Formats: sequence, structure tokens, C-alpha cells
Amino acid sequence: MASKLEVQISVDVLEAQELTPQEQQAMDLAREAANDAYAPYSNFLVGAALLLEDGSLFKGSNQENAAYPSGLCAERTALFALSAHYPKSRIKLLAVTARRRHEQEFMPAMPCGACRQVMAEYEFRQQEPIPVLLQASDGKYYRFKSVGDLLPFQFTPESL
Ligand code: THU
Repeated sequence: MASKLEVQISVDVLEAQELTPQEQQAMDLAREAANDAYAPYSNFLVGAALLLEDGSLFKGSNQENAAYPSGLCAERTALFALSAHYPKSRIKLLAVTARRRHEQEFMPAMPCGACRQVMAEYEFRQQEPIPVLLQASDGKYYRFKSVGDLLPFQFTPESL
């Protein structure tokens, strides 16, 4: 008989006041980044912020293009820029939020599959989990303890 593999993922669901000061700072920067997004086609503004080991923060936003597939999500913009500028940096947290251009309220933006794959690469590279903090609905936040929880059964350099 076929056996079954159960995959368990636990996610912290947090109120704003339950975030640590560093998490709040990262989420604030993600909001700031979203406000700077270049998203004239979707009008969906996404911001990502990376908290680094030394306490510094790095941001990215989605960058769209008239040739639609040439655009890039906020998460990958942040990760690639960080890796290009500071290849040795170690990531302690990735925070993501979004809003529609004509609405003030921030809303959930669950990272797309391609971004999860890229996150997984940097998690593998640093050999240490990268916690992911996502804006959820109703002013709440989801905290995943690693990218592995957002992307189980992943393709990694070890798969090659
Ligand atoms: N987008 C992101 O930046 N991150 C995500 O995780 C999901 C989608 C962007 C891509 C595009 O510019 C816009 O949101 C609409 O899909």
C-alpha cells in the first residue's frame, strides 16, 4: 500500500504589537519600499525588506516593464540587489507587504513561486534559516521560521 508523508508547517499569526522592534522596523521599510514601487501596469505596489546580521536593512520593490514578463517582483529585486552589493551579507529576516496604488491600506502579498525559489537559494547559501514575515489580512502578520516552510520539497543546489 502507498505510504503517506505528512508535511507540517507552523506559522505564527501575530498582531502588530507582537512584532519585535526589528520586525517592526523591517515591516516599516517594506511599506516605504512599496510606496516607491515602479508598477504602472498592475498598480499593485509590493515592498520587501531584508534585515541583515549587523542590524542594517535593505529594501526592494517590484519593477515592472512595458514588456510585462521583463518586470521583477519586490522580493527578488531586494535579494538580487543585496547579493550584488553585499555578497557576504547574511539575512536574518525578509519582510513583505503590498498595497493597491489607490488604497492607503496595506494588504497581503504572498510571495510567488519564483520568489520562493530564489529565497530558497539564499537560505541554502547562508546555511541558516531565513524567517519570513508577511503582511496578512486584518492587520495581522504571518511569521514563517524559514523559507523551507514556504517551499517544501524544494530544488536546491544539492539536487544537481
Ligand atoms: N509581485 C511582487 O512583487 N511580489 C509578489 O510576491 C507577487 C507579485 C508583483 C509583480 C507585479 O509587479 C505585481 O506584483 C502584480 O503581479
